Amino acid sequence: MNHDYRYQAKQVDKIIVRPFSFEFPDDLDPKWVPDNIVRSHFFNGVSLTMPYLEPFLVKTMREASEQISEPKLLEDIRGFNGQEASHYKCHRRLNTLLKANGYPEFEEVEARLDATYKRLSTRSLRTRLAYSAGFECMTNGFTTWLINKRQQLFRGASPHIASFWLMHMIEETEHKTVAFDVYMAYSGQYLPRAIGVFHGSFHVLAYGIIGMFTALKKDGKLSELNCITGIIQHFFSLLWNVGPFLLRALLPWHNPRGEADPEWMRQWVIGHAALSADEQLPLVDTNDPDMPVPFTQGVTA
Ligand SMILES: [Fe+2]
Ligand SMILES: [Fe+2]
Repeated sequence: MNHDYRYQAKQVDKIIVRPFSFEFPDDLDPKWVPDNIVRSHFFNGVSLTMPYLEPFLVKTMREASEQISEPKLLEDIRGFNGQEASHYKCHRRLNTLLKANGYPEFEEVEARLDATYKRLSTRSLRTRLAYSAGFECMTNGFTTWLINKRQQLFRGASPHIASFWLMHMIEETEHKTVAFDVYMAYSGQYLPRAIGVFHGSFHVLAYGIIGMFTALKKDGKLSELNCITGIIQHFFSLLWNVGPFLLRALLPWHNPRGEADPEWMRQWVIGHAALSADEQLPLVDTNDPDMPVPFTQGVTA
């Protein structure tokens, strides 16, 4: 353990575990972003990884928590694990529909994910914590990208899937410090953490991309020029929006507390808090040019 570790206050006081009561329609179209099959399948590919990655994160945090005595960090871990467990269960429901509605080939990707996470689970706790902290740093970039560019990314898209991704990213922002803090409390060494930034980020992205190519191959699109240019555009956008977060995560003095939370996320959290417990989660209006938070109460203009 790192005896120099001291807990620091974070922007979000309490990590709230919310029900993910999204009911995806049975006839959900896996090509859910209009006129953008690449973007649809990229996010479908990333969704495939979640029921393997997120239980791995939960198990890793749970194992590390046995050695942690700081009450605030233990409370954060409970919030982190509660949120990640809701995420992967909802991704699993979505993935089942994606497979049923045209892409049974995703099962082969899932088998590979199962094997790779079983292998990863045998690595040292320090390696697994560095991986977890590194992945969560990349997720900060994803959150900012998805929330701040939601109008370009999800205009006219399935409100169910777009709302689900945006809500997932909001909770990622809420718990963005936890995996990093646990790594710092356990080890704090720079080099393994820096390796974890690449390991966590590229491992998940690689399997997301395998999922994307699996679907594009099934659709017979890989030889089409507009598909190839779409892939190039998409990866340029990913690199441009998420890359700086990876670079900042590599700084020896990095702390996710230094990354600003998007204003839309803050509004969403306030709006959701005013929702009564028996109300269904409202969906983001993807046809509204501004795509405001889907709440009317408690939201300031
Ligand atoms: Fe998550
Ligand atoms: Fe997370």
